[in-house]
Amino acid sequence: AVLRRTKIVATLGPATSSPERIEALVRAGMDVARLNFSHGEADDHRQRAQLVREAAEKQGRFVALMGDLQGPKIRIARFKDRKVTLRVGATFTLSNSHPNEEGDENIVGIDYPELVQDCRPGDELLLDDGRVVLRVDSVDIDSVHTTVMVGGPLSNNKGINRRGGGLSAPSLTDKDRADIKVAAELKLDYIAVSFPRYGSDIDEARSLVRAAGSEAWIIAKIERAEAVADDEALDALIRASDGVMVARGDLGVEVGDAELVGIQKRIIQHARTLNKVVITATQMMESMISSPVPTRAEVSDVANAVLDYTDAVMLSAESASGEYPVEAVEAMARVCLGAEKHPTTTHSHHRLGETFSRCDETIALAAMYAANHFPGIKAIIALTESGHTPLIMSRIRSGVPIYCYSPHGITQNRVAMFRGVSTVPFDPTAYDPADLSNAAIGELKRRGRVEAGDWVILTKGDFYRDSGGTNGMKLLAVE
Ligand code: G6P
Ligand code: MG
Repeated sequence: AVLRRTKIVATLGPATSSPERIEALVRAGMDVARLNFSHGEADDHRQRAQLVREAAEKQGRFVALMGDLQGPKIRIARFKDRKVTLRVGATFTLSNSHPNEEGDENIVGIDYPELVQDCRPGDELLLDDGRVVLRVDSVDIDSVHTTVMVGGPLSNNKGINRRGGGLSAPSLTDKDRADIKVAAELKLDYIAVSFPRYGSDIDEARSLVRAAGSEAWIIAKIERAEAVADDEALDALIRASDGVMVARGDLGVEVGDAELVGIQKRIIQHARTLNKVVITATQMMESMISSPVPTRAEVSDVANAVLDYTDAVMLSAESASGEYPVEAVEAMARVCLGAEKHPTTTHSHHRLGETFSRCDETIALAAMYAANHFPGIKAIIALTESGHTPLIMSRIRSGVPIYCYSPHGITQNRVAMFRGVSTVPFDPTAYDPADLSNAAIGELKRRGRVEAGDWVILTKGDFYRDSGGTNGMKLLAVE
């Protein structure tokens, strides 16, 4: 069977908390399970993480775990009757001092005192992912007074964005700091940071994560207009992180839906060029929350991200709280495989204009050049400590599977996020150096991935257990 190259991130939630459901998600092809710290208690995440590990173990699969921090999402407080309907042209006030449970169609509380400093008359505030739009008329020390431009229902605790971005809330909240400790305790493989503005937000998150004793890789969610305002801002965020998420929900609200597709392509391309992983997220299969089949538009959206060469596509509410979480993963897997038949997904531009700065990266890229030009090559075996070597390889478009050979659990799971990379647990120190190549090929033969007559590329360094030490590649004939 052809291996699917694009990876699937599925958010776990109330619809996917039972052992049966989680086993079914793993069987359907979930490569990364996302634990959303915006919802649920630490114990919910603890149980789900445990169930994912058990299901993966049982099925011989490698599934990474990603914790997603809530971040400083600015929200309205609550209404007396849970929900109001705002009429176009009516006035509506957001107030710091209004009692939290006492909102009505004229006024509601907010949980963010700085809103009054961040807003100017003429600004547009987007509530509930842009479903309701308010124009700011005036601001005083307590309140923002607005006129309803787009009306409709508005219920408790909905989020607030400003068109064009620029709300100044710092990116890590007290809750995020507490959740980082939970993520460390659960030994999560990835931690996603919400609403980062600068590389320094990611540096701060990384030092908190390391201080908590976690080796997790840090994902920057690109969801503020400022983050994509120019290439410098975007690249600074990408460089500071290990990977990024095109977080299309909040980003789309801030920059407008029309520009989103172009921005998605730009983020994916920049991330890959800077040797980082990239996830495309939000509303990819939205209708599957209540329908067993995706729409043609959703199929096109997932396929488009695959053609953009994203590492992973993501399910949010579809898998967390929808009626068809397993079907959604199955549909994504099917669409990814279909889109991967398109020739642009295997043709590389090979970074012709670039110079390389490291020996191991030069070998990794040379291996991809060889694999893409010698049709006999059916597999690339990368001996790796950290996953760095297969990461660099998988930045290049190819149809040839890359196998991450590592003895380390965290590396075995981490690479589940990388496009085109599969895990083979392997400890090179267990073999006599003269037998190593045969032992490595044997793992793939046993899995039915190569047969006599095929060629395999193997990369490694001169020494075992030497991250960064890759300095050679071999072409091996399978016998
Ligand atoms: C294994 C091999 C080494 C190689 C290293 C690369 O340890 O035995 O020869 O240098 O992987 O690891 P890296 O983390 O750089 O991908
Ligand atoms: Mg978001």
